[in-house]
Amino acid sequence: MPYNPLRTPVLVVNFKAYKESTGKNALKLALLAEKASKKTGKQVMVAVQPTDLRMVAGKVKIPVLAQHADPERQGAHTGSVTLEAIKDAGATGTLLNHSEKRLSDNVLAETIRRCKSLGLLAIGCASDNVRAAKVASYHPHMIAVEPPELIGGRISVSQARPEIVERSVKSVLRVSRMPVLCGAGIHMAKDVQDSVRLGAKGVLVASGIVKAKNPYREMLALLEGLS
Ligand code: G3P
Repeated sequence: MPYNPLRTPVLVVNFKAYKESTGKNALKLALLAEKASKKTGKQVMVAVQPTDLRMVAGKVKIPVLAQHADPERQGAHTGSVTLEAIKDAGATGTLLNHSEKRLSDNVLAETIRRCKSLGLLAIGCASDNVRAAKVASYHPHMIAVEPPELIGGRISVSQARPEIVERSVKSVLRVSRMPVLCGAGIHMAKDVQDSVRLGAKGVLVASGIVKAKNPYREMLALLEGLS
């Protein structure tokens, strides 16, 4: 891995399944993320759809994540996206348990365990500080706290629910020293600065970048708040 995927602070751009970040658009956006990372010297990772993983990971040097993966081993599991397959496609790791792709606790724990045995970065998502502590007990590499009701909106988690970020950082620290990231509604440098001030080691952003008129400018603006 040319980049250390554990380096923080980090901006994770979640491409979700938007038209603007699918297929050729995924590659364009990932190249812009790489350019923004190079220009600022800051860590940027992109989380892409499984159909775009190999293409994107083959063209950029920044860490490329899957947005989800299944715990099943390789074999007769129709429709499963195995960890072995995402690794082979060039993924550095994966988001797990995003609120748009939730997993049961058992499956989440097992998938994190398998990620670690395969050398894949596991970012466990949680909806609030109570869930963050629970997900931390499965020992992913990082926790991402995102209140679902703020996802896709224009009011950021740092503005609307700062206590969730602060409490998540504290409760996760009690379990282990893993970095806590936060996301939902982040679209301004101030949202990023406030998140960092609240103890987050990075942010996850989707619509604020993917749907922006000028995603590159948006990434640079958000990276300015990341220190
Ligand atoms: O994983 C990041 C994401 O859920 C946040 O979405 O659109 O509020 O930036 P958005």
